[in-house]
Amino acid sequence: MTATPATPPSPAPSALVPPTVRDVLDARRTLAAHLEPTPVRTYEPLDTATGARVVVKHENLQPTGAFKVRGALNLLLRTTPEERARGVVAFSTGNHAQAVAYAARSTGTPCTIVMPTDPNPVKAHAVRALGARLVLHGATFDDAREHATALAGETGARLVSAANEPMLVAGVATAYLELLEQAPDLDAVVVPVGGGSGAAAACLVARAVAPDLEVVAVQSSASPAAHDSWRSGALRTAQNASRAEGLATGCGFALTQEILRAHLDDFVLVDDDALDRAAGLFLTGARTVAETAGAAGLAAVLADPGRFAGRRVGVVCTGGNASPAELRRVLATVPA
Ligand SMILES: Cc1ncc(COP(=O)(O)O)c(C=O)c1O
Repeated sequence: MTATPATPPSPAPSALVPPTVRDVLDARRTLAAHLEPTPVRTYEPLDTATGARVVVKHENLQPTGAFKVRGALNLLLRTTPEERARGVVAFSTGNHAQAVAYAARSTGTPCTIVMPTDPNPVKAHAVRALGARLVLHGATFDDAREHATALAGETGARLVSAANEPMLVAGVATAYLELLEQAPDLDAVVVPVGGGSGAAAACLVARAVAPDLEVVAVQSSASPAAHDSWRSGALRTAQNASRAEGLATGCGFALTQEILRAHLDDFVLVDDDALDRAAGLFLTGARTVAETAGAAGLAAVLADPGRFAGRRVGVVCTGGNASPAELRRVLATVPA
């Protein structure tokens, strides 16, 4: 499943103003009535395996099983009754879809979700169970994006991007504010990237409240568009073949790349097999079901022991919505 999208991400960069830390504080107040803080835990087997002191932030324990719900809820709770009446459309390989469907249900907003055909059945089922209309279209995230954009144009519904949305990034950033309150002495945080909302959010918070914190982004080497965009300083498209749905995007996004260019310390790549092994370590060492995208932070720490040795490293387990096939692959990495 490899695709290189023909069109650049929308909307245009000039339309987007990055959120400020005030927006993040405001998001925290807005979300407090809707989402509980997620726990932070440490696990000896993770420290032993990495040589670092790993602090896990459990976003896999959100009601949708992933961090994205913070962003979608913050965005939709701020829409007007007229906007809600027109409805929302989102495109996603899964966790953004669930997040928008959840937020739409919470705000009484009609919701259409476009996913690539052959979706993770766990995520597709959750979207339908939340009452959204699910449309399956195209082989990749990027194909789904084009179809969702067309649907929004036809119906007047609001298109909710997974990354080019300031209020979504502000909502996601509450996870990093929470993490720094729970673990103020972190030396570094490693953030899985697809569209870049999580890494951009981590950057905004770190620069405002913990300027010494090293923020490292990680993407799959099979879908390196965000990485390539950051390294080159321009929005890039790239092959999009990662098995890890949350990381599988084929283009850089303007808003998140703008924030990453200003603040991110480093961007690394790991291969999909390393993601499977890291999810296996989450299973055995932390009794945690992580989807492979959610294990990317841990995979990056495992991949570079010299860099992280002895340091306190925040690893956000961004999601736990693994498909049965993914779980079987992950289990196969675990020694009998
Ligand atoms: C579990 C998981 N981790 C990481 C990501 C990447 O997040 P972002 O698109 O904000 O970079 C996603 C995206 O949906 C995800 O679902």
